[in-house]
Amino acid sequence: MPIRLQRSLGRRRAIFLGLEMMAGIGAFTAISQFRNAQTQAQNQVLQRDFTVSGTAPLRDRAARKGLFYGAAVLRSQLAKDAEFAKSVARECNILVSIGEFKWDMLRVQPDRFNFEPADVLVKFARTHNMRLRGHTLVWHQALPLWVESTMNNLNAREIMVDHISTVVRRYAGAVHSWDVVNEAIKPEEGREDGLRYTPWLNFLGPNYIDLAFRTAAAADPKAMLVYNEFGLDYDTPGANAKRTAVLNLLTRLKNSGTPIHGLGIQAHLGREGKAKLKPAQLRQFLRNVADLGLKILITEMDVTEKAFPTDIQLRDRGIAALYEDYLSIVLEEPAVIAVLTWGLSDRYTWLSTAEPRSDESPVRPLPLDAQMNRKFAWNAIARSFDKTTKRSPVA
Ligand code: XIL
Repeated sequence: MPIRLQRSLGRRRAIFLGLEMMAGIGAFTAISQFRNAQTQAQNQVLQRDFTVSGTAPLRDRAARKGLFYGAAVLRSQLAKDAEFAKSVARECNILVSIGEFKWDMLRVQPDRFNFEPADVLVKFARTHNMRLRGHTLVWHQALPLWVESTMNNLNAREIMVDHISTVVRRYAGAVHSWDVVNEAIKPEEGREDGLRYTPWLNFLGPNYIDLAFRTAAAADPKAMLVYNEFGLDYDTPGANAKRTAVLNLLTRLKNSGTPIHGLGIQAHLGREGKAKLKPAQLRQFLRNVADLGLKILITEMDVTEKAFPTDIQLRDRGIAALYEDYLSIVLEEPAVIAVLTWGLSDRYTWLSTAEPRSDESPVRPLPLDAQMNRKFAWNAIARSFDKTTKRSPVA
């Protein structure tokens, strides 16, 4: 190699080396800054106060404030697990079915309803003086094969109306509130109204939502009729678009006299960092919903753990902090009348299969641990109920 070229390569290498070192120092600084921030956050969470006065269960603390507290259960869990059933009876004054009212469990054949599983929940709720929520009448998931294979634009209306009338009439007086329509909004699909493409939309058009609510109201004029949705909690482009679309939908329904009484906010939390929870923004959304004359229910609260450490103490505290931060924002809105978690004990949570941890440690997203002991998340909910103002009694 000619000497000049060698020299210039040498110089270039030196420059690269210098740049690499600078990048190295930069990365090192970034890492140590990140570590410092992490330690600070850990210290904050370790020092956070989760004390609760007394041992009263969540149902009593909620009831004192004119609120409902409850959990999602399957009748099979209650039937085979007396310890779990006892905890549910102790803590909840409202229940929601995980699967018993979904089409694939309830509507096994076009001409055959299987009411038995839901009936068991009705009985359990009555025995323990709880309300029961019916979840859900119209959804794009959990549809049995016969619906997928036989529904078309000629029979869709009859299938939906027949289903809602039969089910809601049968449980009139037993079901406190229905998730009449579940998860109908998906703005990223590009429709101007933000509606999700589902078999119901495809065969019936956007008014399928109005039709579902009107049919439910005719079958049980006293039930609280709710639109239920996820992904409304954070300050992200997706959630911002969803809140706008939901608000537009609710406004349209109210303006056209559709019998709708509430918004269900699923509140599956933990997918975004704490910084993305913007209290003023969330409160404003709740206010806008309340201004339409609607009640608000937190219907499926839990915390996905991906962002939380393996260490149990840190993890439980971090999860609890999110519960309390979130609830203290939403409970400031007097239209919020109920909080339900999607499960009560870590023994039974959909997140263990839907969102397992990468370290394979069992997930701990719920108020009670797998041994039915109260965790910090329980304290967080208890504290939020204790702090909030009393609602006027609801039916
Ligand atoms: C989930 C159940 O928990 C799972 O067991 C089932 O496999 C799928 O559905 N939003 C909803 C609920 O509205 O119906 C979902 O329940 C969780 C997300």
